[in-house]
Amino acid sequence: MNAEIRIFDTTLRDGEQSPGCSMNLEEKLKVAAQLEALGVDIIEAGFAIASEGDFEAVQAVAKAADRAIIASLARASRADIERAAQALKPARRPRIHTFIATSPLHMRVKLGKSPEEVLEAIRESVTLARNLVEDVEWSAEDATRSDPDFLARAIETAIRAGASTINLPDTVGYATPETYGALFRDMLNRVPNADRAIFSTHCHNDLGLAVANTLAAVMAGARQVESTVNGIGERAGNAAVEEIAMALRVRHDVLPFTTRIVSTEITRASRLVSAVTGMQVQPNKAIVGANAFAHESGIHQDGMLKDSSTYEIMTPESVGQGQTTLVLGKHSGRAAFRDKLESLGFSLSDNEFLDAFRRFKDLADAKKQVFDEDIIALVDDEVLRGHDRIQVAEVEVYCGTTGKARAIVTLMVEGEEKMAATKGSGPVDALFRAIREIVPHPAAHLQLYQVSAVTAGTDAQAEVSVVLAEDGRTARGVGAHTDTLVASARAYVNALNKLIVKRGRSALAA
Ligand code: KIV
Ligand code: ZN
Repeated sequence: MNAEIRIFDTTLRDGEQSPGCSMNLEEKLKVAAQLEALGVDIIEAGFAIASEGDFEAVQAVAKAADRAIIASLARASRADIERAAQALKPARRPRIHTFIATSPLHMRVKLGKSPEEVLEAIRESVTLARNLVEDVEWSAEDATRSDPDFLARAIETAIRAGASTINLPDTVGYATPETYGALFRDMLNRVPNADRAIFSTHCHNDLGLAVANTLAAVMAGARQVESTVNGIGERAGNAAVEEIAMALRVRHDVLPFTTRIVSTEITRASRLVSAVTGMQVQPNKAIVGANAFAHESGIHQDGMLKDSSTYEIMTPESVGQGQTTLVLGKHSGRAAFRDKLESLGFSLSDNEFLDAFRRFKDLADAKKQVFDEDIIALVDDEVLRGHDRIQVAEVEVYCGTTGKARAIVTLMVEGEEKMAATKGSGPVDALFRAIREIVPHPAAHLQLYQVSAVTAGTDAQAEVSVVLAEDGRTARGVGAHTDTLVASARAYVNALNKLIVKRGRSALAA
């Protein structure tokens, strides 16, 4: 047995449903390109009917994709499925992913449908999708809390109507490896036409078991896994693609399966997703955390110096983590800077490059040593924020032990310069009040303000995360700069831009 496992990436759909996460079109295109470089087989680009922005994103990713199958999610309704098909028109290899809940709780409370009505909806929705595209995936939402007899009938119905992939999501992260593996074994055995479809996993991480459950299902016969970069997703997230891919590689002796994942692209994908979503990766996160290859204890360091396999089961290079290197200085020119960007995996347009180079020169003036991490933070901050409708132009802050802090802020609001000067109980308070005065958003409140240093040293760049909450929506922004207050202003404005996008989405959905 050495079966190939298809990787279905849902970073752009389920991942984007993470609290506070949202990506604009340019960001989604950048992530999609990196997902192809990472080697995923299927990219779920969005939920086409959810908003105009989602529709455009699915369409743009479908147009740009080179090799991957592009999927759009759709509920079991004509409008959803037709909208998905329309967005997928430019795709070389389109897939409609339609779903309906099959657990007694969801059918009764959420859908208000009887089991027979749900079977009829499956028949109709999959048949319609199959008339519009060749490749149809059907998901049994809340499969792990469904009655197995009913679930088997539902799967049989979906396959008979033309679904070639059957996904059994652990929607609420309730399964354990034993129960999830047993569910796949049971369904593969008892559904009469199971051999005409590929079975897929989709695990949420509410009990921290998403990856373990995924691997158990693979052992039981699943041949597609659904996952996200950094494990982002609804609530506690989805199974992390980097963990699944590396588990299959490192423990090939007991998990004899292969994927097309190019493991050296993992770190790049992780950093990009973290930058565009503002969701920082926890330092002790497996594979991609800052500490994943760090050794603190003397005994471990001694072992590592003698032979790295004493304390490392894979090399940092194998997941694309290079050594931290001193890179460029203030005398470095454009060619060296372009070279460095390429080696870090950035491909920038000419204008983006010029903006990044200008920021690099300022940084090299302010900071003696510029490391890879500095360049990554700078490019993430400068380039990925370039399309924001509101941008920070200038920031001046006066603070100290005498009197109230004062901030003077100038923003570019859709190309128009606007300024405000305000006082506050501290510099950050004054700064954020000034931004609120220029772009009023009285219903929003600051849910999180977090500062961390990109590298060591008092001249390090500060990376600031801000989360704004408004009417049940949350938006996360990030900003980086050697001046913590400038980074704070950038992060706040970045979150505000995302909140405005989310408001637009909710209005459309309503
Ligand atoms: O978790 C879930 O059930 C889902 C489905 C829509 C596939 O994301
Ligand atoms: Zn999900």
